Amino acid sequence: MPRPKRTPGQAHPFLKWAGGKTQLLPELISRLPPGIATGEITRYVEPFIGGGALFFALHEHHTIEQSYLYDINCELTLCYSVIQKDAEALIERLDHLGSEYYNHDDEGRKALFYEIRESFNRQLTSISFSEYNPDWITRAAWIIFLNRTCFNGLFRVNRKGEFNVPFGKYKNPDILNAENLQNVHKLLAHTRIRQGDFTSCRDVVDEKTFVYFDPPYRPLNEKTAVFTSYAKDGFGEDDQVRLADFFRELDSRGAKVMLSNSDPKNTDPDDCFFDDLYSGFTIERVPATRMINSNGAGRGVINELIITNYQ
Ligand SMILES: C[S@@+](CC[C@H](N)C(=O)[O-])C[C@H]1O[C@@H](n2cnc3c(N)ncnc32)[C@H](O)[C@@H]1O
Repeated sequence: MPRPKRTPGQAHPFLKWAGGKTQLLPELISRLPPGIATGEITRYVEPFIGGGALFFALHEHHTIEQSYLYDINCELTLCYSVIQKDAEALIERLDHLGSEYYNHDDEGRKALFYEIRESFNRQLTSISFSEYNPDWITRAAWIIFLNRTCFNGLFRVNRKGEFNVPFGKYKNPDILNAENLQNVHKLLAHTRIRQGDFTSCRDVVDEKTFVYFDPPYRPLNEKTAVFTSYAKDGFGEDDQVRLADFFRELDSRGAKVMLSNSDPKNTDPDDCFFDDLYSGFTIERVPATRMINSNGAGRGVINELIITNYQ
């Protein structure tokens, strides 16, 4: 997959994340509510932040006073918090890890990867995710290191919260991109980051807010179930229904709301799950290229849904 274009001086996603929206960005950007460009919308809320593709792209083109980011994954929100508070300390750790990695031959790199992976899993028993503390800096460095050097470059944990992805054998992994981390740090100065369920954003949404929901996909078929396994607890159909109710609640508050998801009609033309859940809103089907099965062998053009409460 070609690397996305990077604009110098701008902040970009610092983690490769399952379900990342980089490929869909042009479609999402062309459907932003007009109030973003006119300045009527002053707040951006993203309750399933993941790698934050739209959050970063949006700030390349527009000025938004405040942003509120949420995700259920505490490892992910930990990374955002560390970049917000202690970017230079994180850069120092990653610089150290990167030099160590590059000073080794292939076998040494592999050994270092498994050593970090073990330390990361061991720290799970002692770390507190509830309050910011210095252990978070070490952990964020490990997460970014593992994300860059593991197989397929995806951060994924098992039910116990352990990282179990094997070594990735990349020739030149980009372990430290200090300039990007500094740019992300600057952007996060006007951003609130919280770990929690998507409904946690309820109190910050008003009529001057744009909310973008990018929930875990409803699997297209059994083989794609891998797309929902990056959160410890998964995201079932009940959650999709709960989310649609919440979408309606925010709509009635006057917020502008956009949501993306997989289109079940890709595999079953009679499956109206989302058409029924979001009836009355604008539902568009746009072509997206992404992996359609778990081993990555099947890539093809399939449709993605983009749902908005505005035209
Ligand atoms: C499709 S990914 C978002 C990808 C993101 N838009 C990007 O560009 O990288 C979905 C995210 O939802 C998070 N998630 C799962 N269940 C959640 C919940 N109940 N509340 C909030 N976030 C949740 C996952 O941890 C994951 O980061």
